[in-house]
Amino acid sequence: MIEIENLHKSFDGKQVLNGINLSINTGETMAIIGSSGCGKSVLIKHIVGLLSPDKGTVKVEGRIIDKLSPKELYEIRKKFGFLFQGSALFDSMTVEENVALPLVENKSIISEKEIENIVAEKLELVGLQGTQKLKPAGLSGGMKKRAALARALITVPEYILYDEPTTGLDPIMSNNIDNLIKDLSEKLNVTSVVVTHDMYSVKNVASSVAMIYEGKIYFNGKPKDLLNSKDQVIIDFIARTCV
Ligand SMILES: Nc1ncnc2c1ncn2[C@@H]1O[C@H](COP(=O)(O)OP(=O)(O)O)[C@@H](O)[C@H]1O
Ligand SMILES: [Mg+2]
Repeated sequence: MIEIENLHKSFDGKQVLNGINLSINTGETMAIIGSSGCGKSVLIKHIVGLLSPDKGTVKVEGRIIDKLSPKELYEIRKKFGFLFQGSALFDSMTVEENVALPLVENKSIISEKEIENIVAEKLELVGLQGTQKLKPAGLSGGMKKRAALARALITVPEYILYDEPTTGLDPIMSNNIDNLIKDLSEKLNVTSVVVTHDMYSVKNVASSVAMIYEGKIYFNGKPKDLLNSKDQVIIDFIARTCV
C-alpha cells in the first residue's frame, strides 16, 4: 500500500504540491489526472524517492520513503516498475540491451543466458517478440512505449508507475497500451498508478481516479463519478482534455 500524507513540494519558491493526501491500495489501478504542469510527475517521483518532500510523508508498505537508508531504498525500489514520461530508451543500445538494463547490475547472480530468456519472455508479454536486435530508431512510437514497459516489468514489480503511457500515440495504439496495462494488473496482480491525460484510459483501466488541482487532490473516487460530476472545475477539465 502507498500512503501519501500532507505532501508539499515547491521548486524555486513556486508551490507545486500543497498538501496532497492520497492512499493507493494494493491491487488497485489508480489514475492520476490534472492539467499539464500541475505536479503529476512530481507526485509519482516522490513514491520511489526520486524527489523528497518539503513537508509531509510518503509511505510504501508503512515505511517512510525519505527516511530510508540507500540500501533500504534500493530494496523498496526493486518492487517498482517505472515507465517514465517519454520512453527513455537508449538510442545506441538494442531493444534487448535496453530491456535488460535493470538486470545487468545483478549479473553476478544471473547468467547471460537467463537474462536473454527473461528479456524474451517480457518482450512477448508486451507483444514485441523478435525485436531483440532492433535499435529504438527502428521502432514506432507505440513499440517504444511497449519496449519501455517490458523494461519496467523485468524485475517482476509489485507496483508499476506509468507516466503518461499513451501520450503521443494514435487512438488504436493507446487502446493497445490500455489493454496491456489492464492485462498486467490482472495477470501479475500488481498495484498500478497511471498518470494520464486520456479520459478513455481513465474509463477503461482505472479502478479509481484522483485529480490534482491547485496542488491538492480535488477529486478522488470512481471514474464514473468523475465523468458524471456536476462540479464546474471537473467539467471544465474534462471538456479541455477531450477535445
Ligand atoms: N526537478 C525540478 N526542478 C524544478 N522544477 C520542477 C522540477 N520538476 C518539476 N518541476 C516543476 O514542477 C511543476 C510540475 O511539474 P510536473 O510534475 O512535471 O507536471 P505534470 O503534471 O505535467 O507532470 C512544473 O512547473 C515543473 O516545471
Ligand atoms: Mg508529467
